[in-house]
Amino acid sequence: MSAADTVRDWPHLFTPGDADAPVLLLLHGTGGNEQEISALAPELDPRAAVLAPRGRVREQGMPRWFRRLGEGVFDVDDVVARAGELAGFVTAARAHHGLVGRPLVAVGFSNGANIALATAMLHPDVLDRVVAFSGMYPFADRDEAVSLDGVQVTTLNGREDPMAPLESVTRLVEVLRDRGADVEQHLRAGGHGIFPQDLARGREAVARAS
Ligand code: MLT
Repeated sequence: MSAADTVRDWPHLFTPGDADAPVLLLLHGTGGNEQEISALAPELDPRAAVLAPRGRVREQGMPRWFRRLGEGVFDVDDVVARAGELAGFVTAARAHHGLVGRPLVAVGFSNGANIALATAMLHPDVLDRVVAFSGMYPFADRDEAVSLDGVQVTTLNGREDPMAPLESVTRLVEVLRDRGADVEQHLRAGGHGIFPQDLARGREAVARAS
C-alpha cells in the first residue's frame, strides 16, 4: 500500500499549524476519538500541527488502539502489531502532510498513552518525544523494548489510579531508563485523568520539543 493510501485509509484529523512548531500526534483513550483529544492541542501548543488518528480496534463499539482481555489485561501480540501499524501511519502521514523535519511529540491519554509508549519502545525512530497521561507498562510480563537512546518521555500519573497501577508505572519508568530513554516522571495525588498540573507539565514537555 502506498503512503497516500495508508493515510487516506486511516480516519484522522490534521491541521498544519505553524511551520516552525512541533507536530502533536494526539492519541485518544478508550471510547474517545480524534475530535475529542484534539481539544488538548491549544492547551499544549496553539501553534503546533495536529495529527490525530482514530484507534482501529472496537470494544463494544468504543474505539481503542489494541485489544485487551479485561481491564488492564492487554493482548500483547496485538499491542506489538498495532504499534507497528501506528508507526507506519505516522511515517506515511509525515511524508503525505509535509511534516518531515518537524519534531513529533506523541501525546496520549490512557489507552492512547499506552499505544504511544509501545510505539516509542518498539519504533523509537518514528517519535521524538512522548507525553503519557495516565499510561502504564504496555507489554504485561514481556520485555519488548529496544534501545531507546535519545527518546524523551514524560509520564504523568496519579498515585491512586486503579487503571494504571503504580507498580506498572514504576516498571515502565525502569524499563525506559534501562534502555537509555530520557524520562521525566511526575506523580500526583488522585487517579486516572488529566489534571491541571498534568497539563502544565505536558505543556512544558511540548515546549522542550520546539
Ligand atoms: C483504558 O480503559 O483505556 C485502560 O485503562 C488502559 C488500556 O486499556 O490501555
